[in-house]
Amino acid sequence: MQHGQFVTFEGIDGSGKSTQARFAAEFAARTLGENRVLWTREPGDWKGGKHIRELLLHGDLLHCHAELYLFLADRCEHVRQVIEPALDRGCLVLCERYCDSTLAYQSWGRNISRTWIESLFSASGFPNPNLTLWIDVPVEKAWERLIARGSADRIESEALTFLHSVREGYAALSKEYPQRVVRIDGTRTPHLVFTDVCALLKKNLGESFGISL
Ligand code: TYD
Repeated sequence: MQHGQFVTFEGIDGSGKSTQARFAAEFAARTLGENRVLWTREPGDWKGGKHIRELLLHGDLLHCHAELYLFLADRCEHVRQVIEPALDRGCLVLCERYCDSTLAYQSWGRNISRTWIESLFSASGFPNPNLTLWIDVPVEKAWERLIARGSADRIESEALTFLHSVREGYAALSKEYPQRVVRIDGTRTPHLVFTDVCALLKKNLGESFGISL
């Protein structure tokens, strides 16, 4: 039985979601106490996960299904080893990227059937997030940030059109699940973006932790 709360951070590469997840983890640790907060990310944040992460980001995979299966294998172990135990302990789990990344990147981005991907999610028993914060920035802005910080990995170096499709995926998911997937304007300064993130965390999670966050 799960007692914790599960929050995911989503967005295209260069959207600034990692910074927001870090701010949220620092804020939550101050408020709830460090042992009630788990900050994690996909792919790779579990024992052994660095091997899958390396393959995914630098393995020069040729088949989009190989990529999909590796993301799912990574998630199976991440959920079993890290996320579920933390939820069972009553923690607030803050996770950078999760199932919505797979839908946005592998279904909208790579045109793999959404129905099929979702059937794999349910067969794998992945828990649903309570809240998903979609940090949204236009592709051109994200791209400028990626160039400025010199990041380029296999996926990030794909064409801009790919990221446009991924962003469309997030927009569609947010429209479909307006209560869970909340869009946040990520074009502002990180501290201004965090005022929205923080307000949403307080609104959605304060009650479940029995305190005013
Ligand atoms: P990473 O370097 O962690 O980038 P970011 O900081 O933007 O998360 O790379 C993860 C990459 O993997 C990113 O381009 C998104 C992609 N990805 C998928 O395509 N599908 C998925 O299911 C997940 C979790 C990530």
